[in-house]
Amino acid sequence: MSERPIAERSSAARLEGAVQRCLVPSCNSTYGLRERIYTCPRCSGPLEIQSELPARASAVSLRKQWEARAASLDPLDRSGVWRYRELLPFDPIAPVITLFEGNTPLFDAARSAQYCGLSHLRLKHLGCNPTGSFKDTGMTVAVTQAKLLGARTVVCASTGNTAASLAAYAARAALQSAIIVPRGQITTAKLAQSMDYGAAVLEIEGNFDAAMRLVQELTTDPSIYLANSINPFRIEGQKTVAFELLIQCGWRIPDHVVVPGGNLGNSSALAKGLDELLRFGLIEKLPKLHVVQAEGAAPLARLFAEMAGARGRESASSLPDRITPVEHPQTLATAIKIGAPVSWQKSLRGVFESGGQVLAVTEPEIADAKAIIGRDGIGCEPASATTLAGIRRLVASKIIHREESVVAVLTGHLLKDPEYVGNYHRDTLSLPASGERPNAAAQKIHGAFRNPPERVPASKEAIVESLHRKRQSNTQEMNIGSTKED
Ligand code: F0G
Repeated sequence: MSERPIAERSSAARLEGAVQRCLVPSCNSTYGLRERIYTCPRCSGPLEIQSELPARASAVSLRKQWEARAASLDPLDRSGVWRYRELLPFDPIAPVITLFEGNTPLFDAARSAQYCGLSHLRLKHLGCNPTGSFKDTGMTVAVTQAKLLGARTVVCASTGNTAASLAAYAARAALQSAIIVPRGQITTAKLAQSMDYGAAVLEIEGNFDAAMRLVQELTTDPSIYLANSINPFRIEGQKTVAFELLIQCGWRIPDHVVVPGGNLGNSSALAKGLDELLRFGLIEKLPKLHVVQAEGAAPLARLFAEMAGARGRESASSLPDRITPVEHPQTLATAIKIGAPVSWQKSLRGVFESGGQVLAVTEPEIADAKAIIGRDGIGCEPASATTLAGIRRLVASKIIHREESVVAVLTGHLLKDPEYVGNYHRDTLSLPASGERPNAAAQKIHGAFRNPPERVPASKEAIVESLHRKRQSNTQEMNIGSTKED
């Protein structure tokens, strides 16, 4: 069921002019879709897939077709990525590897809205993908491309989620997968997934950035295919989240879309998807795209702050050519513990083009925001909660206004990191001293919304008394959590 040819009439013609293009303006080299490259062979710049969009005249009918496919039983239609195949760079014979990714919910989140001072807030939960993170929407495309290119082994560096996703899709495609991860820095749940899906789990001494450098060296071997988001085919899959989101919004464009930033592939992909909708004529303006990083791993937020004054579309066409990496990134949101993000230029371009911001939030802010998302009955992993913490700041600084429509993109499932959750609620969460400050004391984080388990005598009275007490303290807490504007 997971592998079948795409049969679409118009795609072959559309793909004739499709290329992988270097984004460095002075280079601008182009390469064929079947070239197994990840950065520009001439100047090492980032690559992007460029293919002609279908004619604007077909936009409305195509939109209706995408919407209708959600109810179809065809495996390609059921995938929340391949449903949008007219905008993907594949010809009709591609052997698609799918786990029916995408199709993730958009929730109203009243408690979270109140917490950050908004009337309404919606959470797009990409953690509801088959392996529990947004990576699946890109991996279905990257592994399909690996299969097309005849790769034997697919490889990635990872903080855990890319690894779990790659391992699953490689298993579906009967390809070997190798995941290179920083030893001791991946959550048990994520590592468990990769082991179960049969990946070669290779732990290195060093952080994610070291693993990322290593996998790029490995790709000189032609049997190995790299599935990190530096690979422009990953971005093609992930951009479809923008299409699904707009359908779920009834094509009413949100004022703001807020995403976490680590290696910066996800924000790049959303920006590309939104830009394609704009050029295709399905939306008439871009939502402001904001990227939120953890303070201890925030190279893009730092660069953005340094560029204060450079804003808007003009800045998007003259991006700086380097970013200063954070040498010892440090955050308990391990998914985004990244100091040298590979897709920073694409991400920054997307932020500038949309008029958004890049900001950093602290560990206590992330921890409390995460607990609030949990109280909405939704939950997420720590990296995802940077969004709510970021929105709270953007509302406080009046960049986002109370009545505006805001979507926070949650990237990973709550169960990806149960250790963090337990430590938060039991008041044992702490950030160890970092490589930059090895002698400093660990930073203890005392959450404002802790909800530890309580031991009670095995009696009806004790249980009733405990529930009564908890009801009262919950009411008080609701008031503490609200912003002053409420
Ligand atoms: N949220 C989660 C849950 C993630 O796993 C990641 C990245 C991000 C946000 C950041 O997204 O890198 O596209 O900016 N995780 C990668 C991994 C690095 O290896 O799983 P990004």
